Amino acid sequence: MTGIENLAWHRKLAGADAKILILGGAGFIGSNAASRFLERGAEVVVVDNLSRKGSRENVRWLDDRGNVLLIEADIRDAALIEGLFREHRDADLILHLAGQVSVTGSISDPRTDFEINVGGTINVLEAARKAETGAPFIYASTNKVYGDMSDVSVELNGTSYRYRDRSLGISEQQPLDFHSPYACSKGAADQYVLDYHRIYGLNTVVFRQSCIYGPRQFGVEDQGWVAWFAIAAELGKPITIYGDGKQVRDLLFVEDLVDAYEAAAANIEWVAGSAFNIGGGPKNGVSLLELLDYLGERSRTKLPLTHAAWRPGDQRIYLSDIRRAHDLLGWSPRTGWRDGVARLTEWVRANRDLLG
Ligand SMILES: NC(=O)c1ccc[n+]([C@@H]2O[C@H](COP(=O)([O-])OP(=O)(O)OC[C@H]3O[C@@H](n4cnc5c(N)ncnc54)[C@H](O)[C@@H]3O)[C@@H](O)[C@H]2O)c1
Repeated sequence: MTGIENLAWHRKLAGADAKILILGGAGFIGSNAASRFLERGAEVVVVDNLSRKGSRENVRWLDDRGNVLLIEADIRDAALIEGLFREHRDADLILHLAGQVSVTGSISDPRTDFEINVGGTINVLEAARKAETGAPFIYASTNKVYGDMSDVSVELNGTSYRYRDRSLGISEQQPLDFHSPYACSKGAADQYVLDYHRIYGLNTVVFRQSCIYGPRQFGVEDQGWVAWFAIAAELGKPITIYGDGKQVRDLLFVEDLVDAYEAAAANIEWVAGSAFNIGGGPKNGVSLLELLDYLGERSRTKLPLTHAAWRPGDQRIYLSDIRRAHDLLGWSPRTGWRDGVARLTEWVRANRDLLG
């Protein structure tokens, strides 16, 4: 029996009266999470400033799927966010996914990145504290908080990098080491979210997410690279590989991530105040070149590739050690990367007009 099956929170969620508040709910992960909770019959309140390409399409898609309320709001507006939490203080789960999401964007405009990811997160935490919510509060952090991990030795193995002695991946014991303004802002927010449990007793959980992919990901060159490659491969757009293309990531299908959010909420009594590394794990580690090969096979074309210099802070390899999530949440990924990428490309094919 999993944690999900035996908890009151899950019973509550399965009922039609659950309310889920999703900041950034019009984004890729947010709209997939919203869809899951709508399927369960919950009321979903989406808070989003709709700044992300595709967010309006995601809201239109959600609109047909159940009881969803969109509040167009910016998390930098403290008073607005506070009012909104007051109004929805009966929410049963809060997902904080809103953010400035690209490393390159953070380098070109570090102040805006800071204001959204740190300032915006403080606003959300303060609003939750003042609303005296006891609901599980999940924050989407990133593996980038571990930096370039120069203490971890890496070697080349054909078309991919691999760890010399971390075959199970990087655990939560890895020291934090922020490289890039994005890592600084997400990492600061990650620490605030954990501290709001210690100091104020909020039921917070931090997910240090690896590379998430799937349908409704309007990937662009600067962010959402798996979707960007899938879109470019299908639409015949040129693809630039930064670095040698042998860098490896553990891909996690978005529905598996939503499973983990549900499992954390169900187990909140035991896991509040914890951080988890969440990704596809070593079984779903794949290099850019290997992914491109697979996409080329699926689209039956030779992809137009060019190479450019490494991006600052780019890790040669990152694989999440997901044993803690498995042990404490009863969670593991269900979708192998080939199957998940096939589902992503099906979505791309069905939505060519939105993606061109
Ligand atoms: N996708 C990944 O692989 C990945 C990996 C690690 C962490 N994350 C984190 O997960 C979260 C969700 O990522 P995603 O891939 O769904 O990105 P996304 O860009 O699709 O979603 C983010 C949403 O936040 C909204 N937003 C941005 N700034 C806002 C603001 N100031 N106020 C209100 N809304 C705002 C955007 O309009 C968008 O809908 C982000 O916090 C991101 O840093 C994502």
